[in-house]
Amino acid sequence: MSLIREFTKIVGESQRQYKNVIGKPLILTEEVGAEAAGSENLLCHGDNKAFMKTLLDERQMAGKIQMIYIDPPFFSKSNYDAVVKAGDTNIKHLAYGDKWEKGLSEYLKMLAVRLYLMKDLLADDGLIWLHLDWHVVHYAKVIMDEVFGEKNFVNEIIWTYKSGGTSKKHFARKHDTILVYAKSGKYRFYPLQEKSYNRQFKPYRFKGVKEYKDEAGWYTMVNMKDVWNIDMVGRTSAERTGYATQKPEQLLSRMIESCTREGDICADFFCGSGTLPAAAGNMDRKFIACDLGSLAIESTIKRLVKQEESFQVFDLKPEGKSKIDAVVEVKEEEIPSSDKRLLKISLVSLKERGLSKTVERKSKDKVKQVLKEDPLQMVEGWSIDFHYTDGVHRPEVIFVRTKGELETSYEKIISQKSLICVKIVDIFGNVVFERIGYERNHETENH
Ligand SMILES: C[S@@+](CC[C@H](N)C(=O)[O-])C[C@H]1O[C@@H](n2cnc3c(N)ncnc32)[C@H](O)[C@@H]1O
Repeated sequence: MSLIREFTKIVGESQRQYKNVIGKPLILTEEVGAEAAGSENLLCHGDNKAFMKTLLDERQMAGKIQMIYIDPPFFSKSNYDAVVKAGDTNIKHLAYGDKWEKGLSEYLKMLAVRLYLMKDLLADDGLIWLHLDWHVVHYAKVIMDEVFGEKNFVNEIIWTYKSGGTSKKHFARKHDTILVYAKSGKYRFYPLQEKSYNRQFKPYRFKGVKEYKDEAGWYTMVNMKDVWNIDMVGRTSAERTGYATQKPEQLLSRMIESCTREGDICADFFCGSGTLPAAAGNMDRKFIACDLGSLAIESTIKRLVKQEESFQVFDLKPEGKSKIDAVVEVKEEEIPSSDKRLLKISLVSLKERGLSKTVERKSKDKVKQVLKEDPLQMVEGWSIDFHYTDGVHRPEVIFVRTKGELETSYEKIISQKSLICVKIVDIFGNVVFERIGYERNHETENH
């Protein structure tokens, strides 16, 4: 059946699925940052469908989110690699897949079910931004008209950039499309301004028109247009995480600025490396973010830690057996004439339990060599909670690899014995929590 004839079936099936979505309990795994307790900044590892349903039913979040940005897989029928570093070598590792065995109708249903849930979460005066490209944006426009209503269409933003390849068979494809919809006619919008250079960069000197000059020449300020020329995140850019298809923060900041105020909640349910939460945090907005992949979640955590955000991390699945084993050493010395002790916690080693299929075949030998020669090069970050309680990791100190360097031991004077939890993350986003039964002879307990 042609897709256009199938469309009503796709919409009907999506509505049925939407009505039957079942939420999952949110398992709080980490509280990160000084103000994490009770924070409204949430990051969830798991399928966004169940997460959104739980936000609606358990957290009463219907109509509470001011801005939703999503950058889902584009139906490109490819897999996307992240580039991570083991020592000095770049290693390719699957970040996420964008292959759909059952074709476009399966993809569109996946998207539509989630858009219905997002509509429920969106504030009556909020905006939703759907980021796609030529692959499916035209079909998605029809779905957006169906879910949000044609009359609630606000903009089609063309984001144009220079990077990427070209072809001799067609014009170089150098833009993505972002569809913007409101939930109702009373949406909030704060127009932004941009420079508009005068012809020949010379002053016009029109009466009542304010003109400015920069190194390029004379310009006026006008309301921003719907074609945005913003560079992609370059190889040497400071914000680059290595995660595939990372979007520039400038792109997200512009969206956030145009439709939210400080304190509003911004959400991204396909957050990848965490560009939306990073931009929202920088602009004093609250954020809610979710991703299926642990590499995405750990990249997001690393990014948010660097900018000192406070947030809670949830998982939709109870902690299973980790793909890595870590050896953590705890040494303790009495401090003379005091009831205090000096505790030294060091990372000693790391083992991967079989390299998963997600590591590119060519990279496997290099990873094995690093594991043999200097296994701690495989650690991307670690953190310590000195008072581990109720199964939640609340790190007091966090170490992240920066410019290739990572601290591997930490000392602290303590007066009371308590349970310690050390979280170790490898370069692929695999995580292990080592609970140190401090009262039981310092042996590490691996879960
Ligand atoms: C295009 S990437 C997002 C990139 C992100 N905007 C950034 O700047 O890094 C799409 C993300 O959607 C995630 N994803 C796909 N299906 C998902 C689902 N059902 N629930 C949660 N995340 C999902 C993938 O793991 C991937 O990280």
